[in-house]
Amino acid sequence: MPQTWITADLHLRHRKIVEFEPFWSRFATVEERDEWMADMWADTVSKRDVVYVLGDVAMNRDGLADLGRWPGKKKLIAGNHDTMDMQAYLEVFTSVRACHIFDNRILASHFPVHPASVKGRFHGNVHGHVHSHTLDDPLYLPACLEANGGNLLPLEEVRRFFPRPLVIIDGVVARC
Ligand SMILES: [Fe+2]
Ligand SMILES: [Fe+2]
Repeated sequence: MPQTWITADLHLRHRKIVEFEPFWSRFATVEERDEWMADMWADTVSKRDVVYVLGDVAMNRDGLADLGRWPGKKKLIAGNHDTMDMQAYLEVFTSVRACHIFDNRILASHFPVHPASVKGRFHGNVHGHVHSHTLDDPLYLPACLEANGGNLLPLEEVRRFFPRPLVIIDGVVARC
C-alpha cells in the first residue's frame, strides 16, 4: 500500500549547508551529503508513495533535477528558498502550494505559523524552515531532516504526534 511521507529543507546543492548545520558536518561537501540523501530517499520511498516537501528544496535547477529522479509523487509546500520559476517546480512536483491541511486538523507549512492562527482551528502545525533550531512546544512538529535524524516523517507519525483532543460525549470519553 502506498505511504505518505513529510519532510522539509532538503537544500539540495546548497554548498554552505554542511558548514552552518552541525547535523551535516560529517560530510566534507554538499555533493557527499546529497548522495547520502539520495540513498536514504531510495531506501525509504517507493514509486507509488507520496512525499510532501515543506519547502527549501534546492538552490538551483540541478538540485531540482536530482529530486526529479528520486522515487515517489512529490508535492511542494513552498519555502523562502523556492524562488525559481514556477515551471521549474511543476516539472518535479505534482502540486505547489502555500500550505496543506491533513485530516482537516493538521496544518502543514514551511514557516511555523503563529500560535494564534493554529490554536482553536488546528491540532498542530507540522513545518519546515527551522532546521535544527526546533520549537519547544507540542503545538509544533518540525519535518526538517536535521530534526528527524535525517529521516522522512511518515504521515502516521505526524497524526500520532497531534492526537485528537479528548471530549466527553453522552458521558463517554472519546477523541473528537
Ligand atoms: Fe531551510
Ligand atoms: Fe526556510
